[in-house]
Amino acid sequence: MAKTRSTNGGPVCPNGSPHSEAVEERTENKKRSRSQCPDQSPIKTRSPAKWRSPVGCTTNGDTCYGNGDSKISNGKPLCSPKSPRKRLSDQFSQRPKWNPRDPAQMQAVKEALHVATVPTNVACREDEQKRILEFCRTCIEQEKAGSLYVCGSPGTGKSLSVDKVKDLLAVWSKQVGFQSLDTLAINCTCLTDTSEIFSKILDKFHSRKKTSNGFSPLQHLQNLFSQKRQASSGKMMLIIVDEMDYLITKDCAVLHDLFMLTTFPFSRCILIGIANAIDLADRFLPKLESLNCKPVVITFRAYSKDQILKILQQRLMVLQFDVFQPLALEFCARKVAAASGDMRRALGVCRSAVEVLEAQLRDVARNQDIDIVMFDHMDIALSKAFKSAVVDTIQSLPQHQQIILCSLVKLFRQCKKNATTLGELNKSYSETCKFSQIPAVGTLEFTNMCKVLSDQGLLKLGQSREDKLKRVTLQIDSSDVTFAFKGIRFFQTCLV
Ligand SMILES: Nc1ncnc2c1ncn2[C@@H]1O[C@H](COP(=O)(O)OP(=O)(O)OP(=O)(O)O)[C@@H](O)[C@H]1O
Ligand SMILES: [Mg+2]
Repeated sequence: MAKTRSTNGGPVCPNGSPHSEAVEERTENKKRSRSQCPDQSPIKTRSPAKWRSPVGCTTNGDTCYGNGDSKISNGKPLCSPKSPRKRLSDQFSQRPKWNPRDPAQMQAVKEALHVATVPTNVACREDEQKRILEFCRTCIEQEKAGSLYVCGSPGTGKSLSVDKVKDLLAVWSKQVGFQSLDTLAINCTCLTDTSEIFSKILDKFHSRKKTSNGFSPLQHLQNLFSQKRQASSGKMMLIIVDEMDYLITKDCAVLHDLFMLTTFPFSRCILIGIANAIDLADRFLPKLESLNCKPVVITFRAYSKDQILKILQQRLMVLQFDVFQPLALEFCARKVAAASGDMRRALGVCRSAVEVLEAQLRDVARNQDIDIVMFDHMDIALSKAFKSAVVDTIQSLPQHQQIILCSLVKLFRQCKKNATTLGELNKSYSETCKFSQIPAVGTLEFTNMCKVLSDQGLLKLGQSREDKLKRVTLQIDSSDVTFAFKGIRFFQTCLV
């Protein structure tokens, strides 16, 4: 582990479509979590924890959070009687024991698990990094502009990998004797409006003083890349645009213009866009494709259980002692992989498990010495993390999506069943709206909202030719819905 990095938040641009509404909602959550989660740790954060993935305990059959029989037992080592656990605990290595009461050791553990601690190697992303590096090298060698679109769900190592490639590229161009690259990294959450991106690029690569008045920054850039005389003096430019989801507008004009910058005859831009939306490229790709300037798309898949485990182990390797019982670490990896494959979340859960152990040590009533995070500490940390993530997601939904969820829970409660059709749900939703004197949305919008809820993993929509016949089931525990609206009178009445 070497250095730590930091980032900051910014606004999001409006977009009317239901899908972009989902993206907006997610980016809103992103902003919220950025502003509401001040880091308590002395370590500087690069990107504060983002608990976005809604699906927690129900995505696959083998999840078992909050299992009530796994409480920390007074004064005894925490180990379940189940045999696999015992078997794995027998495999503990012979490394020195951790002393969690030693503040310096505790600090080192928390640092190793902190999202802001940049690892020396980005494990499990070798392939993706290689592809990005190769792409950039080819552009530099051929002195040709080009664009790349890196996408994938949160916490899959996109920003980290691109950042690493940026460093590798600088080393490589020095080694082979190429002129050094001009590099600009923009995090779109910092932009006050979407088109500000063009002034940022212009500021970096071409002094504004030299430009004539009357043109917008975009037009300046377009002129610059259209004329040989102006552009040829310049070096190759690497532009990294992170959190590109923030540039989504209804017509995707900014995104389109941005990628188009790489198509001008004398452009020297290597553009790397990073975003969560896998389908984002599809929105502007057809247009770019017709102009023969389609960006290369590299998708980062969610981390698997084995990958999460490997990354955690690698991050913990800098420590001289064992911090986690192997089974505890594996438990974390399995649950996080099943829910989202988000490394940020895995690190957060591990830190939280360490804190559970810390709290236990502070409890003077329990005069015990624990020198390892056990399965049951991890169990508690996982329950906390996943429970609150679902509830947070429900609480941050737009009002009509919340009403839909309430109507579904109410319907299931009244009919004592756990599946219905979209048509039935629409009826229940309309009745709830009528009862609450809120104008209901039309059928098309209702269906789109259900699709958004389905994308978020809150409900599941079956297949049917007719929308109204699609089967609807809840993907989360109905008690999470009730819990999310506890104390809000409007929803309490909806749920009656
Ligand atoms: N392969 C890895 N090795 C070590 N740590 C990792 C790895 N992947 C992710 N991490 C950790 O998880 C954090 C989140 O990764 P990163 O910021 O790259 O995710 P992202 O895909 O850009 O997510 P988002 O879409 O939310 O921006 C990193 O700061 C790092 O601490
Ligand atoms: Mg990122």
